[in-house]
Amino acid sequence: MIERDDIDVIDIVTPNHTHAEIAIAAAEAGKHIISEKPLALTVEEAEQMYEAVKKHKVKHMICHNYRYVPAVQYIKKLIDDGRLGRIYHFRANYLQDWIMDPNFPLVWRLKKEVSGSGALGDIGAHSIDLARFLIGEFKELVGTTETFIKERPIGEMSGGLKAQSGGNEVGEVTVDDAVAFIARFENGTLGTFEASRFAGGNRNKNKFEINGEKGSVRWDMENMNNLEVFFQDDEPGLQGFRLINCTEEHHPYVGAYWPAGHIIGYEHTFIHLIHEFMKGIVEDYQPTPNFEDGVKNQKVLEAIDQSSETKQWVKL
Ligand SMILES: NC(=O)c1ccc[n+]([C@@H]2O[C@H](COP(=O)([O-])OP(=O)(O)OC[C@H]3O[C@@H](n4cnc5c(N)ncnc54)[C@H](O)[C@@H]3O)[C@@H](O)[C@H]2O)c1
Repeated sequence: MIERDDIDVIDIVTPNHTHAEIAIAAAEAGKHIISEKPLALTVEEAEQMYEAVKKHKVKHMICHNYRYVPAVQYIKKLIDDGRLGRIYHFRANYLQDWIMDPNFPLVWRLKKEVSGSGALGDIGAHSIDLARFLIGEFKELVGTTETFIKERPIGEMSGGLKAQSGGNEVGEVTVDDAVAFIARFENGTLGTFEASRFAGGNRNKNKFEINGEKGSVRWDMENMNNLEVFFQDDEPGLQGFRLINCTEEHHPYVGAYWPAGHIIGYEHTFIHLIHEFMKGIVEDYQPTPNFEDGVKNQKVLEAIDQSSETKQWVKL
């Protein structure tokens, strides 16, 4: 595909250890690039990818699709418009449970040399990106990781979530099953984060709550069209979280679909991101999140790993 003249865009959807090689080759061939997250295995690799896209002047994005949920875009607007005032807390959980069975095989997501990290880079990376999008840059953090099941049957390498059961031979799990960390942001917000693949009953519980001086918001991917919002200046008898179904034409992107109340889904978050990417190419600007965000997210991932090893706070 990289050698063909009639292909202008490369969308990298392969396991994490292949992202850098493919992206650098694609940039050298002048192709615009979307890469899946996490951008790379290490900060060094991520920086090489970012250098390559800048040098060859191609457009680039990293597929942090949750930024493109209409409710999340609307939360961004509420924050930018000052509706929540000064932000005190960002509290995020990304919880799954698909590897709780100890006989679930050693798929590529459980091998450090292929995936870089476990729950941290796979799902925690989305919370980190959402935090940077909504709150701003990380200043310092302290965290810890845990691997509950340390050996697993050797299974097939593909099929992340639907792998075949393994045989008798076992191999070592070299990534985290779960991570928890707290962080300070440059603007003074206090962040608390948890990502786990051992949170039974939570299939894809990507959620966050933000508390500000004038109001709070809550969002949860499993009810992605809904936004809960609380304003401090609501009259006393009506104080509480209100439930907003973000399907009105005032909510970003949904005006392109159905009438109000006709919900959209997970796949549309990718459509919105690719829409931004195409607009960036046609109108010649650099959309976000891009490889620069990928590098910044990777620095946070690496800092958490470092903090877990040293049991110390790490500055970004
Ligand atoms: N943005 C999101 O919400 C989201 C969701 C799922 C996965 N991802 C990311 O997408 C990527 C792929 O994850 P997945 O769950 O689809 O994995 P997967 O194992 O289901 O699929 C990976 C595919 O890549 C192919 N492949 C492997 N090595 C290759 C190579 N060298 N060249 C070409 N093809 C190769 C495999 O044959 C397989 O078809 C990962 O980086 C993952 O983090 C992102």
